Amino acid sequence: MKKHLEGTVALVTGASSGIGEETARQLAAEGAIVAITARRRERLEKLAAEIRDAGGSAMVIPADITRQDQAIQVVEQTVEKLGRLDTLVNNAGLMLNGMIFNAPTDEWDRMVDINLKALLYTTHAALPHLLQAAENSPRQVADIVNISSVAGRRARLGAGVYNATKFGVVAFTEALRQEVTAKHLRVSVVEPGAVRTELDSHMKPEIRAITMKPFEGITVLESEDIAEIVVFIVTRSWRSAINEVLVRPTEQSF
Ligand SMILES: NC(=O)c1ccc[n+]([C@@H]2O[C@H](COP(=O)([O-])OP(=O)(O)OC[C@H]3O[C@@H](n4cnc5c(N)ncnc54)[C@H](OP(=O)(O)O)[C@@H]3O)[C@@H](O)[C@H]2O)c1
Repeated sequence: MKKHLEGTVALVTGASSGIGEETARQLAAEGAIVAITARRRERLEKLAAEIRDAGGSAMVIPADITRQDQAIQVVEQTVEKLGRLDTLVNNAGLMLNGMIFNAPTDEWDRMVDINLKALLYTTHAALPHLLQAAENSPRQVADIVNISSVAGRRARLGAGVYNATKFGVVAFTEALRQEVTAKHLRVSVVEPGAVRTELDSHMKPEIRAITMKPFEGITVLESEDIAEIVVFIVTRSWRSAINEVLVRPTEQSF
């Protein structure tokens, strides 16, 4: 049977771990050729080898996409080497929680840089190629899927700047959707609750403990749960655009 994404090319940012890694795996299993990017080359190489062993195709592009020149390079290399771009998953992100008063503002910069600016740069560079794919693809559609968070829908004490970046992703997604949807470029946002990944490992132990406390005793989501949603979004018929998916662990009430 023909796979849904055969003949398409997908670029996944933040593919060296967690949600991005699993999304790349699942898109490849649906037949997409995947370009995978993040800073950790070895992790990307390992994933690419695994995808190839499973019969798929993957290209590794190590980069720090907080730098606009590198974000542009990632998109250009994808299109140069793989010939087109049908799907962009803007997933790379960082969560460094803490109170706003007396906060180390370098942490704010790092979150704004990757959660927001890198997503803007990558999208900007990819747009001409995605619009072209939407026009000439037999599927008659192309996709951007942005990974925001429940934190992009609900602010929480101690997460102000992470919240600001993720609310920003939701707003940007909706404005861009209005701009390009008539051209068959779908723009979607996925807003996960807690997922078991490396995301919380970057915080100082005391901040991490405060952040994770409300999740004690809760079975959180796995990366597969979010990857499945991304695949569902991008495999709909061109007529159907899933604009937004808010998904929490069943036991997460907040
Ligand atoms: N886990 C959750 O509970 C949860 C909930 C809601 C939303 N999200 C969102 O889901 C997305 C994926 O996060 P995750 O949970 O899978 O966390 P993760 O395992 O920590 O993955 C984050 C990814 O982002 C990449 N990244 C970080 N900084 C980068 C940079 N400067 N340049 C390029 N890549 C960079 C990392 O790769 P390198 O370090 O190799 O560069 C890594 O691949 C994020 O946007 C996060 O905000 C997560």
